[in-house]
Amino acid sequence: MGFFSKDIKTLDDLFIHMLRDIYYAEKKIERTLPKMIGEATDPQLKAGFEKHLEQTRGHIDRVEQVFELHGVKAKAVNCPAIDGILEEADKVSGDIDDKEVLDAALIASAQAVEHYEMTRYGTLIAWAKQLGRSDCANVLAKNLKEEQATDRKLTEIAENRINLLAA
Ligand SMILES: [Fe+2]
Ligand SMILES: [Fe+2]
Repeated sequence: MGFFSKDIKTLDDLFIHMLRDIYYAEKKIERTLPKMIGEATDPQLKAGFEKHLEQTRGHIDRVEQVFELHGVKAKAVNCPAIDGILEEADKVSGDIDDKEVLDAALIASAQAVEHYEMTRYGTLIAWAKQLGRSDCANVLAKNLKEEQATDRKLTEIAENRINLLAA
């Protein structure tokens, strides 16, 4: 925030700010997923996290594409929300010994992350359309679709296996 004037003046500025926010979040998720893969015991969950790590790298590429389409430099701004979600996830995991209970906790944390991403992409897509940037909206929609599919897959793994094993 500038001293003399506020930095975000228009919806376009706000769109760019939120793009920088999700860029930071995706990069942070890319750095955090390997640890979650290491902590997961259930093979299906581990494989799910591995797949999502690959997808997350694609998400970063797509966000960079949107920066380029929109004519601004790819840059991240701190996102205390994703930092908080991941910090809490790490703290809870550190307090669990039982491997099956830990898997249930990992799913809960991962779904909190997916829902954060989904809310950001949902908003970014709506704003891109409003700004006449359906090209940007289309690229962002690909990320949203993968976050939604991951969230559904995590629910399925939890309800069909992990919660039963953890109980
Ligand atoms: Fe993502
Ligand atoms: Fe994700």
